Amino acid sequence: MPEPDLDQLRSQIFSEIAHYGELSPDALDLATAESIFRQLGDARTGVTGKKSALAGVKKQIGSVPPEERADFAQKVQALEKEVLGILDAADEALSQRIASLRTEAERLDVTIPGHRPRQGHLHPITLLRQKIEDIFVSMGYAIEDDREIETDYYNFDALNIPEGHPARESQDTFYTTDGFALRSQTSTVQIRAMERRGVPIRILAPGRVYRRDTPDMTHTPMFHQLEGLCVDKGITMAHLKGTITEWVHRMFGEKTRTRMRPSYFPFTEPSAEFDYSCFKCNSTGIFEGDRCRPCKGSGWIELGGSGMVHPNVLRACGVDPTVYSGFAFGFGLERMTALMYSIDDIRHFFENDVRFLEQFR
Ligand code: DAH
Repeated sequence: MPEPDLDQLRSQIFSEIAHYGELSPDALDLATAESIFRQLGDARTGVTGKKSALAGVKKQIGSVPPEERADFAQKVQALEKEVLGILDAADEALSQRIASLRTEAERLDVTIPGHRPRQGHLHPITLLRQKIEDIFVSMGYAIEDDREIETDYYNFDALNIPEGHPARESQDTFYTTDGFALRSQTSTVQIRAMERRGVPIRILAPGRVYRRDTPDMTHTPMFHQLEGLCVDKGITMAHLKGTITEWVHRMFGEKTRTRMRPSYFPFTEPSAEFDYSCFKCNSTGIFEGDRCRPCKGSGWIELGGSGMVHPNVLRACGVDPTVYSGFAFGFGLERMTALMYSIDDIRHFFENDVRFLEQFR
């Protein structure tokens, strides 16, 4: 058998791997370095693997005539060593390059100044609402949430405001084309809640209400009300007065007084408007020598409407007015918030100007 031609094998192998000996890995980007690294693995299998020409030659060493065998084996070994040297060096250089590029890509400079996220905060109306909710929850009231789109029945009829009643005029609102309207008062929730929960009941219903008002310093077509309702056996006006007094005490301090003035609401009988003594001037009407602004010098601030739930309203909800009685009250949140924070125009609340809103952090 003829001796295999090592020179030819050598040039064949080198045509495949010579370029690995000439790499300059520092010039390679990560993707290229990784791709060459994979090719290098394939090339190694190709030229030194079990099925390679080199492996074939090694197997033939035994069949070389004894007097030439040692010399031949040495040449084969030298060739293999040379080939592996090139492959190993390229392997090493590429691995290092890849490792350092990966480290670089994942590097994190902890000394770069961070971006502090701008933290939001609650709207002043929400702040006040939550404060009032907390007070009533601690008195055993449940917070009741309900829809803003209503039928005439819940906004008016069930509240003892039949069609043609003048109270409908003063609460003109926004209507859909198919018989619904945006509620003009949270009193609707009295009806919804009694229908759903029955009596006895104690609820506080905060929410948005709508009226067809032209916006000005004290009016916006959308605003917030809080409605209270307490129905049980033996509830009297004294409970109403006591509840409101307890609430303003916790809101504005123990010295705050309340007063009731006779009034009219279709859904209460008797009805009263309730005021509280001014938190700013301590109901003297004078603050720092001038007429006190929140109470306009009167010493009292109007808070809202209230009264004993009208028997017709109880009946509309299937409650027997000869067994149960109750009180209700309702008031707007915007004016109260404006007074507390000395805001002269309630339109600010809904313009979403951060320069305004930021002040309530
Ligand atoms: N719903 C009335 C309004 O919008 C406020 C009100 C008055 C609510 C008396 C009540 C009440 O529950 O008893 O002007």
